[in-house]
Amino acid sequence: QRPRVWVSQPLFDDTVAQLAAYCDVVATDEVSAHDSAAIAAQLADVDGALVTLNDRIGAAEIAAASQLKVIANVGVGYNNLDVPVLSAAGIIATNTPDVLTETTADLGFSLLMAAARRIVESDRWLREGSWGQWSFTTMLGADLHGSTLGILGMGRIGQAIARRGHHGFGMKVLYHNRSRLPQDVEQAVGAGYVGFDELLSRVDHLVLVLPYTAQNHHIINAAALAKMKPTATLVNIARGGIVDELALADALVNGRLASAGLDVYENEPTVRPELLALRNVVLTPHIGSASLATRRAMVQVAVDNLLAGLGLGPDAGRPANAINADLLSNGSAR
Ligand code: GLV
Ligand code: GLV
Repeated sequence: QRPRVWVSQPLFDDTVAQLAAYCDVVATDEVSAHDSAAIAAQLADVDGALVTLNDRIGAAEIAAASQLKVIANVGVGYNNLDVPVLSAAGIIATNTPDVLTETTADLGFSLLMAAARRIVESDRWLREGSWGQWSFTTMLGADLHGSTLGILGMGRIGQAIARRGHHGFGMKVLYHNRSRLPQDVEQAVGAGYVGFDELLSRVDHLVLVLPYTAQNHHIINAAALAKMKPTATLVNIARGGIVDELALADALVNGRLASAGLDVYENEPTVRPELLALRNVVLTPHIGSASLATRRAMVQVAVDNLLAGLGLGPDAGRPANAINADLLSNGSAR
């Protein structure tokens, strides 16, 4: 009997179609915010699923999923998955690192430039008809070149941003991370390690690229923001819950932070009115990896992971990006 797989969102049909060579595919025709019960119902009679960050999957969602073997997340961050729960059930979880690294770093840098040089604010001001006469002091922003760039979370994407800052813009790059990088890697990306508080107080611009966990919920809160320079720009391309958004809005209103660029929000797709009301923040709708080429590549990687996890296709049994790879090595996968 052919395995059944659920595809939770419309992706790229031609790529998803590769699944049909091996599996019966339950597709989703419209972008859908599946609630917990809907996810549970879909997972109840499939062997695998291709899901996105919209789909939260934990104990309740897999309770009836007795034949589920693989959850392939189309994205690098997997805070939508309760990995310990999936592991305990013997379900392999996979993600899509690497293919989106450079694209996401590009977006982070775009937000940094747009916020620091007030690009979006200028565009809006011009369209509103406010440009009466050229003035020497219109839309004065902050320099990127020669400034000090801070990176919180030095994984693949953090390193790609460090390279852009160091090699492209002559920035001094400082970072903080749970673990320090090997010296040769630090040198290659041109970044120096500092403690969290030192990072906050020394940098001219700070980019957040760390995975979201319970430990770093609201790690950028009022106290952290108070340590930053009032001329600084904050960019978040990680997950919204890392930042206390009300504290951020307050700092931006009261001149304790110059500007921000946000791609992620605590309660997506809802964006707080306190942020929407501000001119000194650039807001994008979670498009970090959204170049056409990269989004296509992510679906391909997820499809490959799903098939491999189900023991099908060229990499049968060896999904390239298993998050809980220990299940495969210790034989506890379903
Ligand atoms: C998107 O945010 C991802 O984690 O890939
Ligand atoms: C996150 O895992 C990254 O690729 O930086």
